[in-house]
Amino acid sequence: MYNFEYQNPVKIIFGKGEIQKVGENIPAGSKILLTYGGGSIFKNGVYEQVKAAIKGFEVVEFGGIEPNPHYETLMKAVEVVKQENITFLLSVGGGSVLDGTKFIAAATCFQKGDPWLILSMKAPVVEAIPIGAVLTLPATGSEMNGNSVVTRVETTEKLSFASQKVMPLFSILDPEVIFSLPEKQVANGIVDAFVHVIEQYLTFPVNSPIQDRFAESILMTLVEEGPKVLANRTDYEAAANFMWSATMALNGLIGVGVPQDWTSHMIGHELTAYHGIDHARTLAIVLPGVMHIKRELKKDKLLQLGERVWGINDGNAEERIDMTIQKTIDFFESVGLPTKLPDYGVSTDTIDKICDRFKKRRFKIGEKADIGPDAIRLILEDRL
Ligand code: NZQ
Ligand code: ZN
Repeated sequence: MYNFEYQNPVKIIFGKGEIQKVGENIPAGSKILLTYGGGSIFKNGVYEQVKAAIKGFEVVEFGGIEPNPHYETLMKAVEVVKQENITFLLSVGGGSVLDGTKFIAAATCFQKGDPWLILSMKAPVVEAIPIGAVLTLPATGSEMNGNSVVTRVETTEKLSFASQKVMPLFSILDPEVIFSLPEKQVANGIVDAFVHVIEQYLTFPVNSPIQDRFAESILMTLVEEGPKVLANRTDYEAAANFMWSATMALNGLIGVGVPQDWTSHMIGHELTAYHGIDHARTLAIVLPGVMHIKRELKKDKLLQLGERVWGINDGNAEERIDMTIQKTIDFFESVGLPTKLPDYGVSTDTIDKICDRFKKRRFKIGEKADIGPDAIRLILEDRL
């Protein structure tokens, strides 16, 4: 196992009816900017619950943060924060609203020029407005991490940054928010969380049985509980287990002390940037290609995944790896996510554009930093 430091200061408030605790967790005297998305919170009662819980505070609202939040929209919110002297940001929504809110928090305090530099040049975030979150969609893990992914429409770029400074002070996770989620968003959440675990697990062994078994338990729980949520949206127990799985998948814990490979995410972000494909769907496309093209490097962990999660014990190593990849594809398709590029109308033109982009960036991805434009082409061509 590698050396590591781990600190996660986010307070999780979990369970039915817990949204009422939002006010008591916000510092007294704060002036709040309540951020939200396209309006789902007005239809499922979350907005009323939040408003009732923050009655004593001065509140300004900022809505319209899109899925894959836009830099252009977020910069408008930064103006509001400055003009209104906002001291606390309350994100009420899914990963996009929360990621957007994290960028607003950092961009408002950024002193070294255009805040886009936080994303494009990884300019350090030295200060940020404090954030609280009421999560309405289990998927990204954003509620318990310091990551944020932002899209710039003008340049068709989707980039991320990470900072401890934008980790929420608290996140409220009431599984009942899942009751109003459309099937597509539940399926997306299951696959996004599944792939978050895979990207911290499917590398090479470093003798880290705790991380491996934590990771496998999250994968198995998603495989068991995800379909229950899809079949019955008001199954509270399944919703609760699904929600906690998604948080645990990307709160940093399973990734400490082990190699990581974020290739599927890095390539997937480009598919969203060019084609607007939902984040999780890009992962359902790319991951099987990564598993296939990097099967030699990932051999030991692919076999372990096959045996421990998919129960594959028969056949030689190559056959078992093939079955492991196929089982993963079958799972994504069983929850409703197609896994090939043509299913989304994507052709070889896009593969060329993505490879060009990685050529210009001049860095390689993967746990051994050996995936450059040529390997990316092979991965994407595998998905045609
Ligand atoms: O905008 P509203 O009206 O709220 O509707 C949203 C949106 O249309 C809707 N929704 C959310 N909660 C709902 C609901 N509808 C009914 N009932 C509810 N309870 O769902 C739609 C999608 O929401 P979005 O926030 O975009 O989804 P998600 O949580 O999957 O977030 C995706 C974004 O997170 C980024 C992705 O790249 C993408 O931009 N990621 C962030 C990560 C992180 N911060 O660590 C890691 C991930 O890998 C991911 O990259
Ligand atoms: Zn993701």
